Amino acid sequence: MCGIVGYMGPQDGVPVVMDGLQKLEYRGYDSAGVATFQDGRITINRSVGKLRELEKKLFASELSGSPAIGHTRWATHGRPTEPNAHPHVYEGVVVVHNGIVENYIALREELAAAGHRFSSETDTEIISHLIARELARGLDFCQAVRAALNQVRGAFALGIMYEQEPEMLIAARKGSPLVVAHGSQQGEYYIASDIPALLAYSREVIFLDDDEMAVCSPAGMTIMTVADGREQQKEVHQIAWDPIMAEKGGYKHFMLKEIFEQPQAVSNTLLGRISEDRRKTDLQETGFTPADWRAVKKIMILACGTSWHAGLVGKFWLERLARIPTEIDIASEFRYRDPLVEEGTLLIGISQSGETADTLAALREGKDKGAKILSICNVMGSSISRQSDGVMYTYAGPEIGVASTKAFTTQLACLMLLALDMAAARKTMDDEEIAENVEALLKLPALLEKSLILAPRLEQIARTYHHASDYLFLARGLNYPIALEGALKLKEISYIHAEGYPAGEMKHGPIALIDENMPVVILAPHDHHYEKVVSNLQEVVARDGRVIAFTASTDKRLADLSHEVVKIEEPGEILNPLVYVIPLQLLAYYTAVFKGTDVDQPRNLAKSVTVE
Ligand code: F6R
Repeated sequence: MCGIVGYMGPQDGVPVVMDGLQKLEYRGYDSAGVATFQDGRITINRSVGKLRELEKKLFASELSGSPAIGHTRWATHGRPTEPNAHPHVYEGVVVVHNGIVENYIALREELAAAGHRFSSETDTEIISHLIARELARGLDFCQAVRAALNQVRGAFALGIMYEQEPEMLIAARKGSPLVVAHGSQQGEYYIASDIPALLAYSREVIFLDDDEMAVCSPAGMTIMTVADGREQQKEVHQIAWDPIMAEKGGYKHFMLKEIFEQPQAVSNTLLGRISEDRRKTDLQETGFTPADWRAVKKIMILACGTSWHAGLVGKFWLERLARIPTEIDIASEFRYRDPLVEEGTLLIGISQSGETADTLAALREGKDKGAKILSICNVMGSSISRQSDGVMYTYAGPEIGVASTKAFTTQLACLMLLALDMAAARKTMDDEEIAENVEALLKLPALLEKSLILAPRLEQIARTYHHASDYLFLARGLNYPIALEGALKLKEISYIHAEGYPAGEMKHGPIALIDENMPVVILAPHDHHYEKVVSNLQEVVARDGRVIAFTASTDKRLADLSHEVVKIEEPGEILNPLVYVIPLQLLAYYTAVFKGTDVDQPRNLAKSVTVE
């Protein structure tokens, strides 16, 4: 949710921190702040709104120094005001925080009773008070941080500085992501809540685990447990992402760039996962063997938002191709219904960020009940990937736009590979059928390119309908999740109310909404649902709805029945969701552009939802 960046070393830390925060602004953007040592004293600048507001302040104040820590906020406790913006300081202890202190009311009352006065409504401020109290009891900075954090319940990723220790920077993690890296110079360190903030400086990172803290000083970086201060040996991970990948590269928005990156992203995701003779899949990297796939009695998919939509398509593929009963649950629901997880259940967690708190907690719940976990994640070393027995990474590269696009199509590519791999192991498809599907997958990037060529047509449609206040998205079968995804994309970036519905369900309620002002997007691929979808389309036409139909490039009927038709080159029924989602992403994108909303950072949202 919130973004944290910290720097210590010979350079001026403020521009480094600001550059990192810019890369992380997608994590939260209601207020921001930076703290550093200037002339031997800690100085803090904070402001409400986007990072550019803070930039203006910093420019005026000429803030510079090292160490420095900064934060972009996505409010949980306390409104987005300047006093609630991070960093928070109390008696020289400066803290930036991502997460939630669950026992903050009890701690606040305890501290208030002891005479502490607070200057914000946040849970975070408690942490600086707790550390200051331990320092006053005679502990050194590092001991005081440990003692304070051992009193905190909940989740945190923290960057901490102390006025009396100008050559120390501490990072600590429990439940919220945090990475640390060495710089190229002696005594130079970086901390950040997500990899893109560090890419320009280092691609060798260390992922802190829960209950670990990194203590940086000119002598080196020591990683220890928070609970008892035991030193930890950590693996250094090489990050394959290129710093350029986290730039807009000439596109107006990250979202548009990421939509256009999909052919390459899907191609990268397939790379190395298909045998040289192009006839079968190769998923040895997951650590699961064909015998493991044969032992699976049931699959449960857990995810949120767009990743959940990918899971809905995955359910269809896993059942149809590998013949494995598959359930799918919204992660935040699964956890609290005491789910039945029988022996032989494989849990599949899908998450772009790998940090979504609901998905992480749901997977832990399933693991505690004895299930094995396979995750599909985009961010290497993320919490979900590290909780899993096996991981399939989506090679989408960093996804910065808050609305997920290339993560979705690469998740679908992974799910299809998985369904084929399982089908081969369980012999639910013969070699020829597998080879045909593998061939179709390999041809997919070229068809995704063709879907992208439709961009000007979608821009035109968006121009016509962007004043609508409601939208309906209808589809059947495998494309019903794509209707849900189209509706989600539209509502989150254009703020138009939109609903996705199975087309056959329309007559059971939503049909009442249809009138001449209602654009109805209908997905009518040339599959075995086509005739039925056309009947549903006619029901909309009969009630004066404005039909925007998406259908096969060879279609001859829908042009006469619809107000707008978009024709798509299809890869065949089973892979259609991938080519149909792209025009819906473009429709949402251009609608948002016409409405003048903030496409990459839509209101109230954050990219990685690390609170429940
Ligand atoms: C929608 C969107 C969200 C995420 C959801 C899960 O465009 O981005 O709905 O899909 O928050 O996030 P991950 O995939 O990171 O677990």
